[in-house]
Parts: sequence; structure tokens; C-alpha cells
Amino acid sequence: MSKAQSSTPTSPKEGPGEPRTFGVTGSAGFLGSTLVDRLLAQGHRVVGLDDLSYGSRENFAQHADNPSFAFHKADVTDKAATIEILRGCEVLVHLAAHKIPRYGSALRTLEVNVEGTRNVLEAAQVRKQLGLPVHVTMASTSDVYGKSPALPFREDGDLVLGPSDVPRWAYATSKLFEEHLAFAYQQEYGITTALMRFFGAYGPRHHLSWWGGPQSVFISAILDGAQITVHGDGLQTRTFTFVEDTVRGIQACCDWAGQGCEIFNIGAPLGEITIVDFARLVHRLVREECPDLDISAEPPIVFVPYASFSERPYEDVRRRVPDPTKAREVLGFEAQVGVEEGLRRTIRWHRAAWAAAKAAEGRPALPPSEGA
Ligand SMILES: NC(=O)c1ccc[n+]([C@@H]2O[C@H](COP(=O)([O-])OP(=O)(O)OC[C@H]3O[C@@H](n4cnc5c(N)ncnc54)[C@H](O)[C@@H]3O)[C@@H](O)[C@H]2O)c1
Repeated sequence: MSKAQSSTPTSPKEGPGEPRTFGVTGSAGFLGSTLVDRLLAQGHRVVGLDDLSYGSRENFAQHADNPSFAFHKADVTDKAATIEILRGCEVLVHLAAHKIPRYGSALRTLEVNVEGTRNVLEAAQVRKQLGLPVHVTMASTSDVYGKSPALPFREDGDLVLGPSDVPRWAYATSKLFEEHLAFAYQQEYGITTALMRFFGAYGPRHHLSWWGGPQSVFISAILDGAQITVHGDGLQTRTFTFVEDTVRGIQACCDWAGQGCEIFNIGAPLGEITIVDFARLVHRLVREECPDLDISAEPPIVFVPYASFSERPYEDVRRRVPDPTKAREVLGFEAQVGVEEGLRRTIRWHRAAWAAAKAAEGRPALPPSEGA
């Protein structure tokens, strides 16, 4: 537990620009903790909120003695707690969310993402009523574009979601509801909000499971000497954005000087790649980054039909590519890190985290041929 568990941080370090107080929900997660590092390094104050359901204290342990940082373990669906924790923050960054578990129920996804968003907007409204400045930045997702054929995806384009009896759409629907809520709060109460549609962020601190994205699952499988499982025909495409770029995009949205409510694609437009080619790329880079491991020369890819991992219908999105024009012109944001460079840095971090996780489980960290 951070020693500043229930206090408001004080004494910012010197940094660029005027130090501000940021309230970050989901601060113990992948993007949240990386953002916290960046904000503190720049001399801002940060109040973090996370229920630690998927985030980790390890992600912010380095700030335990930093008086500019306070952490609160809390559930963002708890309205009173959320308002109280965020009361002293002029910039609210809402990243806490539940992604739909592939094998699980959609209910928690809908609850957390809808109620949590409402509570963060209520916290903003409380500040507004007190005449205090407040700027909201919220995480949406590129998944809201769904099956839209209008590529690359523009923020003002149509959104094409699948039917409601396909549970995977609950996540996109919850984020779309969040977007509508933000527009409604802007209309009713004049709350300024930047909505971020992220495109496949990856990098150090991603979750070591499918929750962390395909690269995480692929790297673990390769290190384990296991098969690389690709869903469907593997010809669905994605673009991947290195975490440093995504977090620069979040900060650009926090610094956005406009009024009203606006949506921004935060992603790397170049490098659209099929998932099967992405699996091959990850395999090659893991081999190159880990020459001491006995990794097969050929990527052991197996194709698994969607129907085999869920009795319920599953619909994948075939292509997902952002149009970066608005983020570039309005925010001055452009992704800079190429996928090979980003993946190499990710693999080096992942290997260390994977070994630590194995050690904690009492299992050897190397594939059997290299293990104990
Ligand atoms: N990483 C990506 O590629 C990506 C893509 C699209 C959208 N997003 C969105 O960006 C945001 C951050 O994603 P991330 O990749 O860092 O995910 P993450 O799971 O690492 O971080 C989310 C954090 O929210 C916390 N959380 C979950 N439920 C909570 C609750 N009820 N109360 C308080 N905290 C709670 C978790 O413990 C976790 O630390 C999310 O809103 C996600 O939907 C991410």
C-alpha cells in the first residue's frame, strides 16, 4: 500500500509547464501506470484509483515515497468513493475498465464500464458546480468501429456493431455508451472531455495473458516452447501501438485546449499486419532477442476455429486501421515507434516478467530443453 494511501499529494517536483493534479482511474494497469510514471517525471501530482482486479502494486511501487503520488484502492463503481478520491483533481483520466472475458460473462464489463464512467463524469460535475477547473480524458476503444468497412477508421465514421446475442460486442457497446454519456454531460453541464479510441497498445507491463493482447500470448507461448494459437484463419488484420506512443497520445488529450467533447483515434496507422504474420514476426524477434533459448526455427502456429473456444457465437473484426488525421491536426499527436523496435523492447521486459512469474509458481523459467 502506498504510504500516501488517503492523502492528497503535495510538493510537486519541478517539471515542464505548470504542475497540475491528475486523477487517474486504472492507475495500476498497463496504460495507467505508464502514464503515472510520465506525469510524475514531469513534476505533476497524481491521485491514482484502482481496485487492483487486473492492475498490480508492482506497477507503482517505485513511487511509494513520492509525495506527489497518492494511491487509493477503490472500485470505480463506488460513486461516493470515486467522487471523494477525485475531488482535488483538475484533470481526470478515466482508464479503469473491464474487458470482456473470452469465456466469461458480459455483466461485469457492462457494470464497470457504464457505472464507472458515470461516476467519473459525476466527479467532474461536482468540481464544475464548485466553480473549479476540470478536464476529462477517457479511454474508449477502436472496437467501437466494429465491422465498419470504411477504412481507415475516421472518428466521424459510422460504427457497425454485431448483434446483441454475440457477447463480445458488450465491450464495444459499453464503451460506446461511455462516449454518449460524455457527450450528454458536455451538453447538459459543459464538461470538456477528450475521448480516446485506442488501437492495440502493447509494451512493457502488458498483462501476461490474453488480457494483455495477442503479442503477450504469443511471447509467452514461444518462451514456454508451446504452440502459438491463432484464431480463425489468421488473416484478420490489426495495427499495434507501442505504449510510449499511446501514453503520449493520452497526455496530448489531457493537454487539449479545446472545449466540448471530441473523439480522437490514438493509434499507429502504419504497419497493418495480419495476425498470422504478426505471430511469425513475434516468433522471429523472440528468437533474436533470446539466443540462449532453444526456440524452434519454424513458428509452431496452430489455427483454432472460433467455435472451438466458445459455445457462444464469436465475431472477430477483419481489419482495424486508424485514420490519424484528426489526432495529428488537433493534438499534434503521431505515433513514432515502429513495431519491430517496440516488440523488441516488449520481449525483453516480458521475458523477465515471465521468468519472475514462473519462479513465483515454483516452475522452471526455461522451456524443458533448457530448464532445470
Ligand atoms: N491496451 C489496449 O490496447 C486498449 C485498447 C483499447 C482500449 N483500451 C482501454 O484503455 C484502458 C486501459 O487499458 P489497459 O490496457 O491499461 O488495461 P488494464 O487492464 O491493464 O488496466 C485497467 C485497470 O483498471 C482497473 N480496474 C478494473 N476494474 C476496476 C474497477 N471496477 N474499479 C477500479 N479499477 C478497476 C484494473 O485493475 C486495471 O489496473 C481501458 O479502459 C481499456 O478498455 C485499451
